[in-house]
Amino acid sequence: MSDQYAVIGNPVEHSLSPAIHAEFGRATGEDIAYGRILAPLDGFRTAALRFRDEGGRGLNITLPFKPEAWRLADSHSAGALVAGAVNALKFEGGRIAGHNTDGIGLARDLKDNLGCTVRGGRVLLMGAGGASYGVMEPLLRELPQSVVVANRTVEKAKALIGHFAKLASDLRVGRFTWLPYDRLTNDSFDIVINATSASLKDGMPPLPREVFAPGALAYDMVYGRDTPFMTFAAGCGARAADGLGMLVEQAAESFFIWRGVRPATGPVIRLLRQKGKRIKAKGGP
Ligand code: ATR
Repeated sequence: MSDQYAVIGNPVEHSLSPAIHAEFGRATGEDIAYGRILAPLDGFRTAALRFRDEGGRGLNITLPFKPEAWRLADSHSAGALVAGAVNALKFEGGRIAGHNTDGIGLARDLKDNLGCTVRGGRVLLMGAGGASYGVMEPLLRELPQSVVVANRTVEKAKALIGHFAKLASDLRVGRFTWLPYDRLTNDSFDIVINATSASLKDGMPPLPREVFAPGALAYDMVYGRDTPFMTFAAGCGARAADGLGMLVEQAAESFFIWRGVRPATGPVIRLLRQKGKRIKAKGGP
C-alpha cells in the first residue's frame, strides 16, 4: 500500500494540496497517497491520531487547526518554534514532529519563481495574524533593508514586531517597525505583502497609493484569483502576484520533510494555473 498523507481542516474541500502532492508523487516516483480529512471543529486531535494509528505518515494542517497541531506535536522544528505555528506534522516511531513550511514557501516563491530580490529591499507586511507570524522569520533571513508591519489593530502589529525584534536586530535589519495604515504615505516599498484575510471577503486594507516604489512587487497570500489588493496594486503600476506559488512551495517543503526528496515546483505551478482553479484560500495547505 502507498504511504498515506493528508490535509486536515474544516473546511477542507477547497484545498489544492491533494492535487499538488499527487503531482509531486508522480514526478518523483515516490509511492504516496494524499487525501483530505474534514475534522469536526472539536475533533482535530481524535481525527489526527486516528489517521496516525491507521498508518498515516504525515499531515498538513489548515484552518482552524494550526494551534491544536502545535499542541499535538511532541517536538517543534526551529522554524515552527520561531513562528509559534505548525502547518505540517510528521509521524515517526510514536513521536509527532511539528514543522512550519509557510514562510519558506513565501521566501522561495519570491526569489525563485518571481525573481524578486528581497535582500536589501524595503518590505511592507500587512496583517499581524498567524499568517504574518508564519512568514516573518524566513523573510528576515533574506536580509531586507527594512520591514514595516501595518495592521488595522495597532496592538497586534506592536506585538508582532516585539516577537521578532531580537531576530531582526541579530540579522541587522536596519528598520524593523510598525505603522498605522494612514501613516504610510511618507514611505515607499519594493515588496508589499498582503498577509491579511481581507481578500477572502473581497476587501483590502486601507493602503495609500504612495506605498509602491517604482518596480514594486505586490504579493497577496490569497490564491486562485485576482484580489482587490492585486487590482489596486496593478493600477498603481506595481507587479501583482497571488499566493499560488507560495502554496506549492510550502507543499514541496512538506514533501521534503516527509520523503527526503525535493520535488520540482515550476511544472506544478504551471499546471494549476492552466487548470485555472477558481478557488480562493489563503496561506497554507
Ligand atoms: P491569519 O491566521 O490568516 O493571519 P487572523 O489571525 O484572523 O488570520 O488575522 C487576520 C489578519 O487580517 C489580521 O491582521 C486582521 O487585522 P486585525 O488584527 O485588525 O483584525 C487582518 N484583516 C482582516 N480583514 C481586514 C480588512 N478588511 N482590512 C485590514 N485588515 C484586515
